[in-house]
Amino acid sequence: MKIKNAGIIGVGTYIPEKIMTNFDFEKIVETTDEWIRTRTGVEERRFASPDQATSDLCIKAAEQALLSAKIKIEDIDMILVATCTPDFQIPSTACIVQKKMGALNAGALDINAACSGFIYGLTLANGLIKSSIYKNILVIGAETLSRVLDMEDRNTCILFGDGAAAVVVSQVESGYGILSTYLGADGDLGEALTIKAGGTRNPITSERIENREQFLSMKGQEVFKFAVKALPNATLQAINMAEISPEDINLVIPHQANVRIIDAASKKLGIPIEKFYMNLNKVGNTSAASIGLALGEALEKGMIKKGENVVLTGFGAGLTYGSLVMKWSY
Ligand code: COA
Repeated sequence: MKIKNAGIIGVGTYIPEKIMTNFDFEKIVETTDEWIRTRTGVEERRFASPDQATSDLCIKAAEQALLSAKIKIEDIDMILVATCTPDFQIPSTACIVQKKMGALNAGALDINAACSGFIYGLTLANGLIKSSIYKNILVIGAETLSRVLDMEDRNTCILFGDGAAAVVVSQVESGYGILSTYLGADGDLGEALTIKAGGTRNPITSERIENREQFLSMKGQEVFKFAVKALPNATLQAINMAEISPEDINLVIPHQANVRIIDAASKKLGIPIEKFYMNLNKVGNTSAASIGLALGEALEKGMIKKGENVVLTGFGAGLTYGSLVMKWSY
């Protein structure tokens, strides 16, 4: 069997209209714009409107990705939705997207790898295209995190935002596209970032709601310590597997969680910070949407040209991490 090259042939993004600034949060919890900016780099983020759920954000980004790839929805044979804030537990958000977009020839699957989800999705798509199982895969990263934020917990509510990013992955010319992928997980640290209630372990009860266990909770410093190691390590693994060196990288698109984590990764890798694309000041941490949103923005600004080496790298709940290297193909 001839091995094909897989790569991104179109990108689309969507962020909701409602802007929540740090000053808005000063009115909700005991915090300051200065604290949030200096500790995280975030200045504002977007929150979905009450009538929007994750599938709605997915569809807006996916429609753009199809236009950019010049491909019809009937040509998509698989929809992968990376999200940890699905519309429902059942059915999957991917199936809702499949139905609403009329993707009559597509399978549909959700991936929960939290903020690493977009890279997990791209890695699966890469394998499915390379092995000729599928031709065109829609990979979407999307979150409506505002619905699971505890607006009484200043440790978490100021960090996150809503959004979606979608890409079409297809066969590309030889030598281009995804050159390497590297995924990992450390389930030992799962409790550092969790929604305790609502699954089969701790079904929702009024007592659990009273304890606010239906919301996201986080041990920030544990996640921080993990991230400053995992992000550069995963990046370096993917770079080595692509048989290139850090100097060959044109642009790094990291998960947009915290500017201090990205700074630490830049120093550890010896890749100048100017090569790290950041938009977290405007959108906050949008989990599975984060890397795709930044990718879409960098492309729109003309910062990625055909033949350039781009690294996507992230970490998230699970805890999970992952990186991939692409030679941009259009
Ligand atoms: N406003 C003001 N003060 C705040 C605050 C806020 N929004 N959130 C926390 N604080 C306080 C804490 O209560 C603590 O006060 P204390 O010393 O009186 O107890 C103090 O600030 C320092 O808290 P600490 O947790 O040590 O801050 P930090 O420098 O570690 O920064 C994070 C906190 C959350 C910004 C940081 O740990 C982080 O970014 N972690 C990684 C989180 C992440 O990336 N999550 C997503 C993973 S995908």
